[in-house]
Amino acid sequence: MGRAQELDLTKKVMAFNKRIKIKSLLESDFVGQEVTLMGWVRTKRSNKNVSFVALNDGSTINNYQVVADPTIIEEDILKRITTGACIKITGQIVASQGAGQSSEISASAIEILGDADPEKYPLQPKKHSLEFLREIAHLRMRTNTFGAVFRVRHTLAYAVHKYFNDKGFFYIHTPIITASDAEGAGETFKVTTLDLKNPPLNEDGSINYKKDFFEREANLTVSGQLEGELAAMALAEIYTFGPTFRAENSNTTRHLAEFWMIEPEMAFYDAEDNQDLAEDFLQYVIRYALEHCQDDLAFLDKRAAEEEQSKKADQRSELGLMERLRFVTENKFERLTYTEAIDILRNSNPNKKKKFQYLIEEWGADLQSEHERFLVEKHFKKPVILTDYPKEIKSFYMRLNEDGKTVAAMDILFPGIGEIVGGSQREERLENLTARMEEMHIPQEEMWWYLDTRRFGATPHAGFGLGFERLVQFVTGMGNIRDVIAFPRTPGSAEF
Ligand code: 4AD
Ligand code: MG
Repeated sequence: MGRAQELDLTKKVMAFNKRIKIKSLLESDFVGQEVTLMGWVRTKRSNKNVSFVALNDGSTINNYQVVADPTIIEEDILKRITTGACIKITGQIVASQGAGQSSEISASAIEILGDADPEKYPLQPKKHSLEFLREIAHLRMRTNTFGAVFRVRHTLAYAVHKYFNDKGFFYIHTPIITASDAEGAGETFKVTTLDLKNPPLNEDGSINYKKDFFEREANLTVSGQLEGELAAMALAEIYTFGPTFRAENSNTTRHLAEFWMIEPEMAFYDAEDNQDLAEDFLQYVIRYALEHCQDDLAFLDKRAAEEEQSKKADQRSELGLMERLRFVTENKFERLTYTEAIDILRNSNPNKKKKFQYLIEEWGADLQSEHERFLVEKHFKKPVILTDYPKEIKSFYMRLNEDGKTVAAMDILFPGIGEIVGGSQREERLENLTARMEEMHIPQEEMWWYLDTRRFGATPHAGFGLGFERLVQFVTGMGNIRDVIAFPRTPGSAEF
């Protein structure tokens, strides 16, 4: 391409980007100015004299009204302005006659950037079910609901980084491919380049991973914590925010096979410091969304209220979405130990009347989500921090308490969600840690690097993991976790 042509192209691209976003248009007074808008047609109404087009460009949930006069805009163009089409409008901003919006654009020229055949375009200006929209996840972000969800998701992600940056924490990128299974859950996705039809074998018939890419078994990470701990032993206060993979076959509204987790890890923090940080952090990011996503949350609040109406009376939540968010930011979380929680649960009505699927009979029982939700939604009616669980039901790295039976774990339980955070003070005493690993059959040779942090300059430290999608679910009021991540991965589903 010649130099002249190259220059021309640059000029064209620049002109293309001189559009005004609808968000900016609505925030200040543009009346009298000539501007260019670009976006997708939500609806068009026409009569003999004029067409009104509702345009959305993604910058805000609010559409902007385009007024197209058939004596100015050619008939052929007007016909192609259909729901879903992408258009470019140049025109003057004028004061609006109609109610609702103070200004509109009077089009002097409209260009069709992309047609959308109305016979084939799946999104119509009517209500579609969330289930149907999940099948067209490539288009669902063009609806009000999903536009709102993903703007809120972005804002929450930004607030996470802002919170930790302002506090002097460092963002560490922990590996996505690892050879360890941090939680000891074993539910990992394998990573291999071996030929699955014809893998190299050892003499005993097992697969010879020495011939694999990493010369060992590898998997997608289930948590960045162990590597996060290594970083905290140098930078003192760190956090990770990355994708996490679990191959558990849980087809619930709270589980994904691929989800995002935020894991702060802090040297010189004990269990209580950890709880204080988690509570402050959660309140901060929710408050941040309340302040910065007002239009989207107002829309989601209405949507959630409509959804509540379709539920049975005893399953409806007492508070609306906005009320729930404010409630969490304005009230202290309830803190109690596992042992105290077991007492409450054992004497609870649903336990006595055998309404729980899993009855609570003795100390040591693992808590199911029905128990967690009873504590949060019926008993305390606010977020709960449950601490000091029996060591048998928690991971090997949690610090053993003086009673020798419980560990310095914490789970944070949220209304409508259940567990949103899991964390603990870590076992920094080498002998305790190796004893626990032996009891739980965790091979120590492979974890030599982790154990080294307890050999060299060990210090009390603590951390936790926040499931990002569960946070987005709580803030947006979406009932299913599949509706707060753009392209959900769940058992049997990895489309798009
Ligand atoms: O409780 P978990 O398993 O804790 C850890 O992974 C620790 N290593 C965290 C730490 O101490 N650094 O997971 C933490 C959180 C859960 O509370 C939940 O919110 C979320 O991650 N989570 C999931 N979210 C979506 N889908 C899944 N399958 C999830 N599993 C856990
Ligand atoms: Mg957990």
